Amino acid sequence: MTGPLLIALPGNDALADALVRLLDGERGRVELRSFPDGETYLRYEDAVAGRNLVLVCTLDRPNEKFLPLLFAASTARALSAASVGLVAPYLAYMRQDKQFKPGEAVTSTVFAESLSRHVDWLVTVDPHLHRRSGLDEIYGVPAAALHAAPLLSAWIAANVTQPILIGPDGESEQWVAAVACDAKAPYVVLEKTRRGDRDVIVSVPEVERWRNHTPVLVDDIVSTGRTMIETIGHLAAAGMKPPVCIAVHGVFADRAFQDLRDAGAARIVTSNTIAHETNGIDVTALIADGVRRLSPRR
Ligand code: R5P
Repeated sequence: MTGPLLIALPGNDALADALVRLLDGERGRVELRSFPDGETYLRYEDAVAGRNLVLVCTLDRPNEKFLPLLFAASTARALSAASVGLVAPYLAYMRQDKQFKPGEAVTSTVFAESLSRHVDWLVTVDPHLHRRSGLDEIYGVPAAALHAAPLLSAWIAANVTQPILIGPDGESEQWVAAVACDAKAPYVVLEKTRRGDRDVIVSVPEVERWRNHTPVLVDDIVSTGRTMIETIGHLAAAGMKPPVCIAVHGVFADRAFQDLRDAGAARIVTSNTIAHETNGIDVTALIADGVRRLSPRR
């Protein structure tokens, strides 16, 4: 029996190596570089004909990653790979899932349709499913949306004394409720109004009764950090302790990480769906289970 051939797109080597070990697979290599005009050159260095390929490519900063990924997937098919799957621990373009203003692109649909044409299956972790019930609403291939909540709960139970979990907005309730349940901790959810990309207002919560607890902010994504930063300000005003900030996906746009630290986060912890110095929660085994479910065995 031959295990899958794992191909890491740039920046995904550590995860691909770890998956090779868990899946009894092999590492394959692609030569990937840019021509002087910015176009992409890609060549498989290993024979892929007849192999079950797993492309490993987390999709933060997706615009620069998307074309190389499509070239890798379509070339593998052209070279007669038996199957081409994608492990994208962070799945981009999930948040613009409806037209908020006339004329806007619903990018989640366009992105999903494009990707579905080039891969046979997809494994990801906690995609931002807010108004959609599942990935199958937009992806035309089998897709596993894995849940990191039990891993977040275990981290909190092992590292935080007397936690009170805090969801910064209604959208975060699905994560925070699940994490709180497993961690056997109380939780509250705040109300958020987003006035612009970097302009967020969070309601003052009834937090006084939790003053002796350690606040733990839980969200699926930290992008600009504004949601967590705004929440930290309100907790401080209410006399709460500096919070531990936990997110599944640490996207950290621009200076978000420094800004969040400067805002008074006691600790910032993310999972390794996106490689970052805050990674403290390992989702590799979860992803390996997802790959076992979807990748053909031969
Ligand atoms: C909202 O829909 C998400 O759950 C996060 O709260 C949001 O994406 C965080 O974004 P930012 O860090 O830019 O405030």
